[in-house]
Amino acid sequence: MVESLLRKKLIGRALADGEHGLARTLSGLDLTLLGVGAIIGAGIFVLTGVAAATKAGPALSLSFVVGAFACMFAALVYAEFASTVPLSGSAYTYTYVTLGELPAWIIGWDLVLEYALACATVAIGWSGYFMRLLEGVGLGLPTALTHGPTQGGIINLPAFSIMLLVSGLLALGVRQTSLANGLIVVLKLAVIGIFLYTAVPHVDPVNWEPFMPFGWSGVMAGAGLIFFAYIGFDAVSTAAEEAKNPQRDMPIGIIVSLVLCTVIYIAVTVVLTGIAPYASLNVSDPMAFALAQVGERFAAAAIAVGAVAGLTSVLLVMMYGQTRVFYAMSRDGLLPKVFSDVHPRFRTPARTTLITGLLIAVVAGLVPMQEVAALVNVGTLAAFIMVSLAVLYLRRAQPDLARPFRTPFMPWTPILAILSCGYLISSLGAATLWRFVVWMLIGTVVYFAYARRRSLLGSARPDTLI
Ligand code: ALA
Repeated sequence: MVESLLRKKLIGRALADGEHGLARTLSGLDLTLLGVGAIIGAGIFVLTGVAAATKAGPALSLSFVVGAFACMFAALVYAEFASTVPLSGSAYTYTYVTLGELPAWIIGWDLVLEYALACATVAIGWSGYFMRLLEGVGLGLPTALTHGPTQGGIINLPAFSIMLLVSGLLALGVRQTSLANGLIVVLKLAVIGIFLYTAVPHVDPVNWEPFMPFGWSGVMAGAGLIFFAYIGFDAVSTAAEEAKNPQRDMPIGIIVSLVLCTVIYIAVTVVLTGIAPYASLNVSDPMAFALAQVGERFAAAAIAVGAVAGLTSVLLVMMYGQTRVFYAMSRDGLLPKVFSDVHPRFRTPARTTLITGLLIAVVAGLVPMQEVAALVNVGTLAAFIMVSLAVLYLRRAQPDLARPFRTPFMPWTPILAILSCGYLISSLGAATLWRFVVWMLIGTVVYFAYARRRSLLGSARPDTLI
């Protein structure tokens, strides 16, 4: 019994599965842009405000440093896997070839929290900024169409619609999506440049006092929340089967995008908390708000436009990641076959992209943002821990496997990733942890009721597995 739960997919077999199906179109630069596209979003544009005002104060920049350490350890681990097993399912596939089927299922189920719920969270953030822009030009929607039922409305129509739009674009083709993403990333970086350029002359060091109003525990609580801002570098690894040269370009895409965003985040938070008193930042558009406070109204409007565009690219990449994880799970028989059908003309999993997009759109349209954001963090941190365990295991179990990129400082890097991610999970609060446990229990039931029996690895003749 235990043996069958831990049955492993052979790496050679897994690589062979990835040889046909999706089109290989993405270069190293595309992958880096994909990473930046996924990373810079609601975390910096929306959550920094509440994190500075209620958790960390001006020391929020330290929270970003703490978050960056945890992510950097995890990124080095992901880079080894993504170059060694360059396949669509990211952490799910890595776990399947190392720890076995049940852990892989659990991680795949867990990744839904990361990718699908992150999309829902970001779509709701997008809707907030979009409404602000509409109001800026004298248009507006009634509350009934901008809030879900628990907040006095019927549906958050902008959040619902943007999700459907993004799914349609993804279904059409990855190359087009990657082009759209590249353009948006340039715009997003330009807007952040405008923010820094216009804000720096207004920095008043008085605003950095007291630096740590909520103490060290506040810094850590801030890190637990703004961890959301870093999520996305791992989404690069879901594109492995569409990369032209995954062995070389996966580590580049993952590490370069993370380093770049870390530098940007720390610069933005230092300046943001330097131009406005931290306590005033508890708003949904802190960067635009702070600029408006110091009289830079034009720049503030530019930030709002950039945020709307920037959040769209996060949606594109995270949604892309979700469909590729489903694709991989379905190809292994653990999910229904519709999730891995590739459209003959677009060469994308078009049908599953649209179905998944519709489901996420419904969540984004009906549920409030704060209910989903923390769950995304816990789901992602759990995935990072699993992947770190898996890399440790694989080094031991298959020391001779060709590894184009090797995680440095073994075994310390994955151990530090496990410890730092575990610490961040512990700062997230009991309610979030309970929701996470319930989600994972539901996943375990689905595994035993459906996936285990349908698994190709379980049902196939032994000779088809090698
Ligand atoms: N890191 C992404 C964001 O901040 C998920 O929106």
